[in-house]
Amino acid sequence: MTIHHPPASDVSDTEQLRDRIAEVLTRARQRTLTLTDCIDEAELVAQHSRLMSPLVWDLAHIGNQEELWLVRDVGGREAVRADIDELYDAFKHARSNRPALPLLDPTQARGYVGTVRDKVWDVLERSDLRGAPLIDGGFAFGMIAQHEQQHDETMLATHQLRTGPAVLTAPAVPIVTTPVTGEVVVPAGEFTMGASTEPWALDNERPAHRVRLPGFAIDAAPVTNEQYLAFIDDGGYERPELWSERGWAHRQEAGLVAPQFWERDPAGHWWRRVFGVLTPLRPHQPVVHVCWFEAEAYANWAGKRLPTEAEWEKAARHDPATGADRRFPWGDAEPDEATANLGQRHLEPADVGAYPAGATPAGVHQLIGDVWEWTSSDFDPYPGFHAFPYREYSEVFFGGDYRVLRGGSFGTDPVACRSTFRNWDHPIRRQIFSGFRLARDLRPGEGE
Ligand code: AVJ
Ligand code: FE
Repeated sequence: MTIHHPPASDVSDTEQLRDRIAEVLTRARQRTLTLTDCIDEAELVAQHSRLMSPLVWDLAHIGNQEELWLVRDVGGREAVRADIDELYDAFKHARSNRPALPLLDPTQARGYVGTVRDKVWDVLERSDLRGAPLIDGGFAFGMIAQHEQQHDETMLATHQLRTGPAVLTAPAVPIVTTPVTGEVVVPAGEFTMGASTEPWALDNERPAHRVRLPGFAIDAAPVTNEQYLAFIDDGGYERPELWSERGWAHRQEAGLVAPQFWERDPAGHWWRRVFGVLTPLRPHQPVVHVCWFEAEAYANWAGKRLPTEAEWEKAARHDPATGADRRFPWGDAEPDEATANLGQRHLEPADVGAYPAGATPAGVHQLIGDVWEWTSSDFDPYPGFHAFPYREYSEVFFGGDYRVLRGGSFGTDPVACRSTFRNWDHPIRRQIFSGFRLARDLRPGEGE
């Protein structure tokens, strides 16, 4: 038997990776507990909207995915609760039916996620984090941290839908005196779309591939409440010619007259209900809780269009001056408080111009954080895609009625946010933290 002694640098690299995994898993769990400890049992098991699961379902589902991938698969351990897999399989029960299931109650669910996590610490301690693709670079741990954070964002959206007194608090967003306006020209040329070096990139971000785009112009900031209000005041919701056929049919059927959670008082002033608190509309805040069809109608009204997801990603990561394709608009460094509004640090999007340090070298602001941005693109695989590690993360959604959203919101954790990250939803959905920015083709001779 040969005993392999890895070089000292490998050992410390592995230790650093373990620390990083422990940090992202711990941060996700603190957030999960913040979102579930602040409300009583009756509200945890209640359904706050037919579009959402009861919070106690998300809680145990988080634990069940962690058990499946980290305890059983990576760890090769015995099941903690093999009998509940079916209950927490998102494909077996629609969200609207989940309250009727014999779910773990809040105490049981908390105990379950805690037991699973204790086993995961042991699995992590014993893994060298090298070898098979699932474990190499700690992929499965990174995937599970992203999964928990994605459900935390979903739970945050459920909190926004619940009625009753506010239970969440956070510091106010930074103040901006001069909002960012205008647009930036992105010259024609190639860039690398998708992830190649990002170890925890999910399957739909791969493989990286070269894409050539004609030149285009993209707005320096997302569309704001004030701009969106001008569309409303100009009869935007009453003019079918601004909407696509499907969009208008949905506007009629759903009775859309303003973004979700907007309320107009008798004096004609608009307010926004934000996690149970009624606040005056902030004019320079990116509009949030609009569906894709509303974004499309606004774009038609403004004489522009939504960017494709390739355009969005090129604007977010390609630096024409150096030819580099970076992890984030500002470069390769992890997001922090100066560059992006992420991670539920605040409970709403920040005004446009609040993160100058997070802009691209060309001057495109707030691509990361604040609001998910609708693109014109359907959710489809990149050329050469292969499902990893399971078809139900991405593949089963390809070709469906989904549009891609990019950039993350104030409710997205940095571990689940980068310039290559792809989110998707039905074009009628708006309970998510969705906004948009506009783009347009270049006029002849422009940008050359
Ligand atoms: C990528 C946000 C669309 O919540 O449906 C969670 C993420 N996948 N559990 C979703 C996900 C499996 C997914 N989105
Ligand atoms: Fe899930």
